Formats: sequence, structure tokens, C-alpha cells
Amino acid sequence: MERCSIRQDDHVTDADAVSPDPASMRKQYRAEGLAESDLAATPVEQFARWFRQAATEGRLFEPNAMVVSTADAEGRPSSRTVLLKHFDEQGFVFYTNYGSRKARDLAENPYVSLLFPWHPMARQVIVTGLARRTGRDETAAYFRTRPHGSQLGAWASGQSSVIAGRDGLDAAYAELAARHPEGEQVPVPPHWGGFRVAPQAVEFWQGRENRLHDRLRYVAEADGNWRVERLSP
Ligand SMILES: Cc1cc2nc3c(=O)[nH]c(=O)nc-3n(C[C@H](O)[C@H](O)[C@H](O)COP(=O)(O)O)c2cc1C
Repeated sequence: MERCSIRQDDHVTDADAVSPDPASMRKQYRAEGLAESDLAATPVEQFARWFRQAATEGRLFEPNAMVVSTADAEGRPSSRTVLLKHFDEQGFVFYTNYGSRKARDLAENPYVSLLFPWHPMARQVIVTGLARRTGRDETAAYFRTRPHGSQLGAWASGQSSVIAGRDGLDAAYAELAARHPEGEQVPVPPHWGGFRVAPQAVEFWQGRENRLHDRLRYVAEADGNWRVERLSP
């Protein structure tokens, strides 16, 4: 029988609990598909349509959450979730620490993949392209819109570095909070800022019945136009 609660003195490990078998998890995806004739002229316009639907109808907690994958100079990949903060025809923007692992990867190798996992809608969007840093003015304008606590957090964290424990982090935050009380302007950390991913290809994936999904990919052409190709599911 599955245990619902585990008391400290039971000496029960997680392994004793019956865990669901992922191999038996199977969902039938919706029938409405994505046709070439449905697509907008540019991938960013098409993304805007799907993003609007994800935000309004998608029952998604954070539709702007995306998985950012980078690779270092030796080609070793790594992925993490990041929030999309802006998009337009120039690209997709997120903010992070420039000393983080992802930022160090991007300094060596600017090729990046962004994946929006919109599972409740049986959709995903995959952007591949080139990342470059946003300008300091753009970074500063966004930094000023962040809540005071998040502004301090950007100063307190040496993102991706190994630390001795939680205490040092909390102490650094408390010290910063005392130095910059609520209502006071927090300077933009020099080690913090945005990346803009200029898309080279954008795939729109719509789950369909019997695993016969629709996959339509826009690919940038040398003349600045977009070619659309259909991929086998
Ligand atoms: C939902 C969610 C949103 C996140 N948003 C951001 C973000 O916008 N920027 C960021 O630097 N890290 C964000 N993180 C934390 C990253 O996943 C990651 O832990 C951090 O950026 C360090 O990654 P790295 O060591 O691979 O560079 C978010 C995590 C989650 C789960």
C-alpha cells in the first residue's frame, strides 16, 4: 500500500514508497493541428500568437519560463530554466548573472537553444540562435522595474559559484538591505544583465493524436526571409 505520510522515526526511505511508473504514463494529444496556412509571416509573430494563448488559456503557472541550453567551448551542454522578459523581431531576452555558468558558456560559444515547455497545451516552441549581451541602458531600464528584494538578490548572489552554506548568503542580503533600504535606488550590478537571442530557427510543435504531431520550423535565409519546413514527428 502506498504510504501517504512518513514519520521521522519510521526509518522509511523514499525508495519504499510506490513511485509511479513513467513508462505507463501516456496522454492522448488533441486533434486540432497546426497547418502551414495557419502560420504568421515571421516566427516572432507566430510566437506572439501562441504566447498569448499560453498566457490566457494554457493553465500554465509561468508561460514565460523557458529552458535555456548552452554548451561550453568543448561542446559540453548544460540546461536551466530562465524567465523570458521581452521578445520582438530582434530576439528573445532574458536576464542573468554574467559570471554564471550559462554566461561563461555564452562568452565562449554564443549558440543557444530556448525551449518553452507548454505541456498542458501539448505544445512546445524551440528557438535556436545566437546570444549577445543587451546594452547597459536596456539592462538598467529592466533592472529598475524589478522588485527591491530582487534587485538586492542580484547583488547578493555570485550565481553558480560554490558557497560554504546558506548563512553567508543571508548575511550578504541583510547587509545590502541595511545599506539600501526599501524606496532607495539600488545601482545595477556590473556583473548582471541581459542576453538577447536572435533566432536562426524556430520550431512550433503541436501534439496530435497517435503521436503524429505537427512540427513546423521557420529557418532564417540569407536574404532575411524565413523558409518554413515540416519535420516528421
Ligand atoms: C521558474 C524559474 C525561473 C528562473 N528564472 C531565472 C532567470 O530569469 N534568470 C536566472 O539567472 N536564473 C533563473 N532561474 C534559475 C536558473 O534555473 C539557474 O539555477 C541559474 O540561472 C544558474 O544557472 P547556471 O549555473 O546554469 O548558469 C530560474 C529558475 C526557475 C526554476
